[in-house]
Amino acid sequence: MKRLDDYRMRLGRHELVPIMIGGMGVDISSSDLALEAARLGGVGHISDAMVKTVTDRRYKTKFVKAKQAQYKYNVDSQDKSPVKFNLEHLAEATRLHVEGTMARKQGSGLIFINCMEKLTMNGPRETLRVRLAAALDAGIDGITLAAGLHLGSFALMEDHPRFRDAKLGIIVSSLRALQLFLKKNSRLNRLPDYVVVEGPLAGGHLGFGMDWANYDLATIVAEIMAYLKQEGLADIAVIPAGGIFTGSDAVRFMEAGAAGVQVATRFTVTRECGLPDEIKQEYFKAEETDIEVNEISPTGYPMRMIKSSPGIGDGIRPNCEAYGYLLDANGKCAYITAYNREVDAHPEERRVSVMDKTCLCTHMRNFEIWTCGHKTYRLKETTLRQPDGSWQLLSAAHVFQDYQFSTDGQIRLPEPAAT
Ligand SMILES: Cc1cc2nc3c(=O)[nH]c(=O)nc-3n(C[C@H](O)[C@H](O)[C@H](O)COP(=O)(O)O)c2cc1C
Repeated sequence: MKRLDDYRMRLGRHELVPIMIGGMGVDISSSDLALEAARLGGVGHISDAMVKTVTDRRYKTKFVKAKQAQYKYNVDSQDKSPVKFNLEHLAEATRLHVEGTMARKQGSGLIFINCMEKLTMNGPRETLRVRLAAALDAGIDGITLAAGLHLGSFALMEDHPRFRDAKLGIIVSSLRALQLFLKKNSRLNRLPDYVVVEGPLAGGHLGFGMDWANYDLATIVAEIMAYLKQEGLADIAVIPAGGIFTGSDAVRFMEAGAAGVQVATRFTVTRECGLPDEIKQEYFKAEETDIEVNEISPTGYPMRMIKSSPGIGDGIRPNCEAYGYLLDANGKCAYITAYNREVDAHPEERRVSVMDKTCLCTHMRNFEIWTCGHKTYRLKETTLRQPDGSWQLLSAAHVFQDYQFSTDGQIRLPEPAAT
């Protein structure tokens, strides 16, 4: 009976335990969580989503306040196009987050940063260029390009001295997306080191339409591996993600030729995860029928979440003066459009309800959109129930090692917490 620990993931000169903890935006995949993965010989991710908010919280900076003060005059305006990011602050925040994490790294594993293209930040190219360069400057081991096709992202890094030495990968959900990426970047003579193939059961935004249930991760992985082999590109590590809940689920992908697996949901209920503890209990509590994929994210991608997320239907005034991470190249966001429509339709109401879109910046910042993987309803199988009815939080090391060493689809329960 094989276990995940019988395999190693090779990325350049690194030999890793083939477990990658996926990026989870706005500090859910915290530095502490990523550091545990690296300490145990795998790969951890931090995320640069809303990085200024993250450093304000973690490093006592005042970036959000500074932006809010600069654009205070615009709060009542429906036109958010003047609200630009200060690129120096953005670089400084990214550097702080990355340096602060890398300085604490121990063990033989690696730490990558998850960088979402859909965070268009009212200036997609220049803000992405700054985020990528600052992460490389600050010594990140690798960058995972997420939430977007990233057709121009390698070119944005091309002149960086670490472009060929840092590990670079992309998340795709179809062979077609990978083919486009490879074609667009062929002139750079720089292949991705790894490709995360994310299937329809993942958390966060999905690279599928609302017909996500018609797709199957194993089939997409097989197609991508066959293509890479045929093109002589089999050195690119293929890393499946989405719904891999046990070590045995992972072994099935390793036997089929995967280099490693990316997992996330099981780590949302660890002490190191950045979600507040009371929200971790909501993840434990969720039943399969409590989880939905909907279209309320202004990014245009479907997103999976717990139906009782307080951010769903909430009609808060857009706060792009402070945040504004989803403003597109023209300073527009689908939430602003939906919000203004509701305000115009209900001029007498003090607080409108907006059902079709959500203010993702505000609600992710406040942990009010509880995005999660499809298998969240199984989290209660992974721990013990306490006398007060709550579930015992786990350590990231426990979950990591359960993936690493378990066989037969089994899940090891934690030692009971001392009372
Ligand atoms: C709470 C949560 C937040 C996530 N946020 C992001 C994100 O910001 N960027 C991203 O690329 N993927 C995100 N994901 C997807 C994960 O990185 C990962 O690929 C996927 O969830 C793996 O499937 P699993 O959760 O079933 O193990 C998120 C997943 C979860 C559970």
